[in-house]
Amino acid sequence: MPETPPLRLGVNVDHVATLRNARVGRNPDPVRAALAAIKAGADGITAHLREDRRHIRDDDMARLKAEISKPLNFEMAATPDMLGIALATRPHAVCLVPERRQELTTEGGLDVIGQRDTLKPFIARLNDGGVRVSLFIAADPRQIEMAAKLGAPVIEIHTGAWCDAVVDGHADKAEVEWQRIVAGSALARSAGLEVHAGHGLDYATAEKIAGLPGIAELNIGYFMIGEALFVGIGETVRAMRAAMDRGRKNLLGPHHAGKA
Ligand code: PXP
Repeated sequence: MPETPPLRLGVNVDHVATLRNARVGRNPDPVRAALAAIKAGADGITAHLREDRRHIRDDDMARLKAEISKPLNFEMAATPDMLGIALATRPHAVCLVPERRQELTTEGGLDVIGQRDTLKPFIARLNDGGVRVSLFIAADPRQIEMAAKLGAPVIEIHTGAWCDAVVDGHADKAEVEWQRIVAGSALARSAGLEVHAGHGLDYATAEKIAGLPGIAELNIGYFMIGEALFVGIGETVRAMRAAMDRGRKNLLGPHHAGKA
């Protein structure tokens, strides 16, 4: 198994834009939040340009690309319109996610098996444009094996089901979901993929998953933006970084038996 990579923190600023859009104004500004997060130690910024533009807007994405000094991870659905915007924006990375208009947030991972014929050339266009592609998928071995065949260098494992079970106190379900993540990340790394994780993470779950040697990046938004209301974005980023560092110090052994 390859060495443990350093663990990066990507801060997702979508919900700063959600708050701004509640009054259709200019404040709070997601770019300002991104700059503050970077100043406090974030390794990158993530933003999701949804087809319905419910939070991040086109000009936010352009300003993020122009103004931040760290890598921009552009989350989007695999549509022709989004491909055009991504290729014009040239972010460091694109994370392809499934999107349904009625959903509250990204529910479930991308079905890379069902969509393989459209995804393969789509990923190739982004690779050719110098954009690093990540596929947001469930920790399902069949999906991971297909992701490895599609030419994307990275997968992001959807941690939502695990985090929900932890927060709801469903310990047995949490353990099942956790073991899926452990096995999925090991499988992905042995297939040569870089492994990221995200969705629903808070301090406790970020600390736990930081102990998984294969994970190279966590992308975290909703919880951190909520915390920032109380303690500020800088303090939230520092606390999250500290939780991740604690987790990394206690790298889990081969069986990862502990419960979250
Ligand atoms: N990663 C991906 C691919 C996502 O779609 C999201 C949600 O936009 C996140 C990470 C962050 O999830 P959360 O906002 O729940 O921390």
